[in-house]
Amino acid sequence: MKVLIASKNDGKIKEIKSTIDLRVDFLTYQDVSNWPQVRETGQTFQENALIKAHTLASKYNIAVLSDDSGLEVDALDGKPGVYSSRYVGARATDKRNVEKLLKDLHRYIYLEKRSARFRCVAIYFDPKKNIELTAEGKVEGSIGFEPVGENGFGYDPVFIPKGYNATMAQLSLSEKNAISHRGKALKKMKKLLQQKVST
Ligand code: IMP
Repeated sequence: MKVLIASKNDGKIKEIKSTIDLRVDFLTYQDVSNWPQVRETGQTFQENALIKAHTLASKYNIAVLSDDSGLEVDALDGKPGVYSSRYVGARATDKRNVEKLLKDLHRYIYLEKRSARFRCVAIYFDPKKNIELTAEGKVEGSIGFEPVGENGFGYDPVFIPKGYNATMAQLSLSEKNAISHRGKALKKMKKLLQQKVST
């Protein structure tokens, strides 16, 4: 079974491949030509995950696994949310996004006031069989005061999962997958694929 991963984020691709360890031949953006620029115009993670899955499935006529995810910070009324990857705008990089987040939270000097969560919605869509599956996950935590750790991507260096004394970027890939929003969503998706699709 061939499944195209709807992401150009190598960090995500790594996490997806290591969690969905089924007999699936995963393809990535490196295996197909003319990867489209998908405009994430949805207002929710679910809408954006659907846009990515359907755009790529109709372009390549193949089953697609998409995920849309992001960070919600309570003190910022849920921002950056669906704008997590482009929090600073068009010239966003992980480093700039993290810098802006720390700046926006500078007034909040107690960790308890810096509560946040990562959310993820994963969608599997097979255009030939018209099968669509959805799975969600979240992880609660708080935003630290400076980046720490080398692993992961995005906001991992400043996200301290609840009950941990370390950032997500200090965890190994398997430790992160065990507790993360994406790990949880993908484990649910793995079960759904085993039940509903021959893998
Ligand atoms: P997406 O590719 O549109 O889903 O954007 C997700 C963005 O949310 C990423 O670019 C990161 O900024 C952030 N994000 C999502 N998941 C994670 C994670 O596991 N660790 C750190 N940042 C994440």
